[in-house]
Amino acid sequence: MRAAVITVSDRSFRGERPDGSGPVLKQLLEEAGAEVVEMIVVPDDPAMIAPALIRLADQARCEVVFTTGGTGLSPRDVTPEATASVIEKRLPGMEEAIRQESLKQTPFAMLSRGVVGVRGQTLIINVPGSPKAARECFAVVRPVLGHAVKLLRDENPYAESEHACRSLPSLS
Ligand code: MTE
Repeated sequence: MRAAVITVSDRSFRGERPDGSGPVLKQLLEEAGAEVVEMIVVPDDPAMIAPALIRLADQARCEVVFTTGGTGLSPRDVTPEATASVIEKRLPGMEEAIRQESLKQTPFAMLSRGVVGVRGQTLIINVPGSPKAARECFAVVRPVLGHAVKLLRDENPYAESEHACRSLPSLS
């Protein structure tokens, strides 16, 4: 699985704060067997976020793109809107699962407006900006990532094993 991570943060983009959650997601993806082909940091600006998502989906042919940060309520939090502007199909089930499981960790989870959706053959997943939140949200979606990507490739996800839905296959 080809993957990329976009860290959305004005401060990290300006070099004022190290990117904590991007490397966490990279490590988690690699541990799961994915190949992380690109890691970028962009400011909280839809004019930067949307083109980055389009490029990673359409040119770089990433199968999964995680964004981290910018899902909350502050005036500059626009990652969900930028994502919604480039996806063709929304996956409310994954969004709900992320929030539902995250609420077990913190009530502040209800303040994240993260979007999940598909552009072409690319699954785009918004998670919040803290390394803790990124880790927790990744754990929620991890069990279905391989299956989702096979569906996007138009492969039969059930072909390898009759238990494909229940197992945790590598994301390679
Ligand atoms: N979800 C999980 N799983 N764990 C967390 O610690 N933090 C919340 C929420 N979702 C959190 C979480 C907080 S404090 C905020 S403000 C929102 O995500 C938005 O975060 P963001 O603006 O960094 O995207």
